[in-house]
Formats: sequence, C-alpha cells, structure tokens
Amino acid sequence: MRAWRVHELGDPSKVMSLDEIEQPTPGPGQMLVKVKAAALNFPDVLMAMGMYQEKPPLPFIPGVELCGEVVGTGQRVLGSPSNGPGAFAEYALMDADFAFPVPEGMPDEKAASLYLTYQTGHVGLHRRANLQAGEWLLVHAGAGGVGSAAIQLGKAAGAHVIATAGGPRKVEVCRELGADHVIDYTADDFVPVVKEVTGGHGADVIYDPVGGDVFDKSRKCVAFEGRIVVVGFTSGRIPEAPANHLLVKNYSVVGLHWGLYRKHDPAVFGLVHEELTRLFEEGLIDPLVSQALPLDQAPQALAQLADRSTVGKVVLVP
Ligand SMILES: NC(=O)c1ccc[n+]([C@@H]2O[C@H](COP(=O)([O-])OP(=O)(O)OC[C@H]3O[C@@H](n4cnc5c(N)ncnc54)[C@H](OP(=O)(O)O)[C@@H]3O)[C@@H](O)[C@H]2O)c1
Repeated sequence: MRAWRVHELGDPSKVMSLDEIEQPTPGPGQMLVKVKAAALNFPDVLMAMGMYQEKPPLPFIPGVELCGEVVGTGQRVLGSPSNGPGAFAEYALMDADFAFPVPEGMPDEKAASLYLTYQTGHVGLHRRANLQAGEWLLVHAGAGGVGSAAIQLGKAAGAHVIATAGGPRKVEVCRELGADHVIDYTADDFVPVVKEVTGGHGADVIYDPVGGDVFDKSRKCVAFEGRIVVVGFTSGRIPEAPANHLLVKNYSVVGLHWGLYRKHDPAVFGLVHEELTRLFEEGLIDPLVSQALPLDQAPQALAQLADRSTVGKVVLVP
C-alpha cells in the first residue's frame, strides 16, 4: 500500500516520503480499515517536527483521524488509528473499541472531521468549562479546525458566540459558521470589543487553541467566574497565568487534554460520539471541509496548515 512516512524530524512538507509498504496486519482487538478520508490536524505538523507531546518512533505514518471502511464487513467507521498516528495511508489499523459508526448520510470527508476536533470541543466546552445556554463564549482562531467545531458546538449549546480570526476571509467563515460577533484579531484588539459586545460582562467561557498574546489578552476580558480553556499553542508561545490575577478576578484556567480520557475515562469517547451524531442529525453541527485533496498532496496540505492559510478542515482522499 502507499503510505506517507516521516523519516526524520523536521518540516513535514520536506521530511515525508510517499512509500510503498506492506499492509498492516491486525492484532487482537484491532481491525484493518481501508482509509476513505483522513483529516489534517495541527498536531500532524508538530509531531513531524518533534514538538508534540506524543513522539512516535521513526519512521512513522502521520495522520491522527480518519473515516474508513472495515475490510471484511464494509462498515464505515471514524476515529483514530491504533497506537497514535497512521492515517495518511491507503490502509490503517483501528482499535475495534474506539472505531465509531459514521452517522447516516454523512460523506466520508465530513466523517473524517467529526472526531478529534469535535470531541475536543464537546469535552472542553461541556465537561471542562460547563458552558451554559445564554452564556458568552469566545472562540479564538474560529475559522480553524478546532475553532470551527467550537463555534458550532457553542451555538448548539445555546451560547452567544464571539469568534476571533485572522483576516477578512476567515472572519466571513466564522460568520457563516454561526458566530454572532466576529473580530479580526490581526487588525483589532479583541479585548475592548468583547467588553463592549457583552455589555461589560466579559466572556464566560474562552476557548483558546492559540495561546501566547491571545491568552494574555483573554485574561483581560474574561467574566467573573469565567473559564479559560487551554486547548493549544498555535502561536508558538506557552503563556502563563499569574495566580494572583485568577484570585483577584475570580476566574479559572482549565486545562484540556482530550486524548487523556482514553486512559482515565474511555467511555467518554462513545458518549460524546452519540451526542455528536445526534447534533449532526438535528442539523446543529456540520463539519466545514474546505478542501478534499488526493493523498499525494499531503506535504502541500500540511504546509498550508502550518502557514495559517487553511480554513475549517482539510482532508486527504487516498
Ligand atoms: N487540547 C487538546 O486535547 C487538543 C485536541 C486537538 C487539537 N488541539 C490543539 O488545537 C490547536 C488547533 O489545532 P487545529 O488542528 O484545529 O489547527 P487550526 O485551528 O486548523 O489551525 C491553527 C490556527 O491557529 C491560528 N494561529 C494563530 N497563530 C498562529 C501561528 N503563529 N501559526 C499558525 N497558526 C496560528 C490560525 O488561525 P488565525 O489565522 O485565525 O489566527 C490557524 O488557522 C493546536 O494547537 C492543536 O494541538 C488540542
């Protein structure tokens, strides 16, 4: 089969090659799936560079979420490959207990995008931040993969959603996703806008995949008893929250590591998948897939993700 492999750590657009390798053989509890679509995620870039918390041994096949067809049964499933990455290939192994049925009528490209970012959004907004209907939710990088899911999930939960995004095209994408107010944070300071839009209240929940200065500014417009969810650091800087500031303003900073539920509470994955399926069937969420590219364009696609030029999800189709 054809599979992209990272042979040395570095820029994924340079260190990957499309290799012809043996199809993997399923072990106990695993099944072989024919990959129908594999979605890109920012962690693919970080993992290839050796800058992610997960460091698979070299060479490895990147790609952490997919929609595939189970060889033998033909059932369409979505989820992550077994034991970490492995989705940017024609076939992959999945753990049977963590392969979830594709919602009725959902195309492969969207199904490949319903797992990591939506599960993260659901766990982050509901389980970690306890988002309530009527609250103000601020989603940073709202036009990105994680952000676009959070906008839809926030609206589905009945929150008022403010989104930030870099540039007019992305601002428009956030509006189309349902955000009530959108700020181009590369042009305007979002802090006074959030204060004004919320009538001085501030944002009850702030969903932050960017970190750095964006996190620092978020602390200035978080509401009394607000929750800032730390999702990621695409800005490249891991920020710090002074404990006295949390005390004085009475807010929380909440960490989110969705993958860790696999170890601590694996039932979460199935429960959240059921909820996401319901939301999709009711028309309340619908993954934004902006590009579906052939598998051989993985390096170019990852370069776009790294240089901030993608919106929503980009998927590879073997
Ligand atoms: N905590 C968890 O369990 C978990 C799970 C999944 C993903 N994540 C994290 O969530 C983050 C987003 O992942 P994603 O796949 O959804 O990516 P993405 O949002 O599709 O892309 C990243 C976005 O971050 C923004 N950004 C701001 N500064 C940037 C910079 N210097 N370079 C690149 N992008 C920058 C860009 O949006 P603008 O141009 O609009 O600023 C860009 O579109 C990643 O850090 C990822 O590791 C965390």
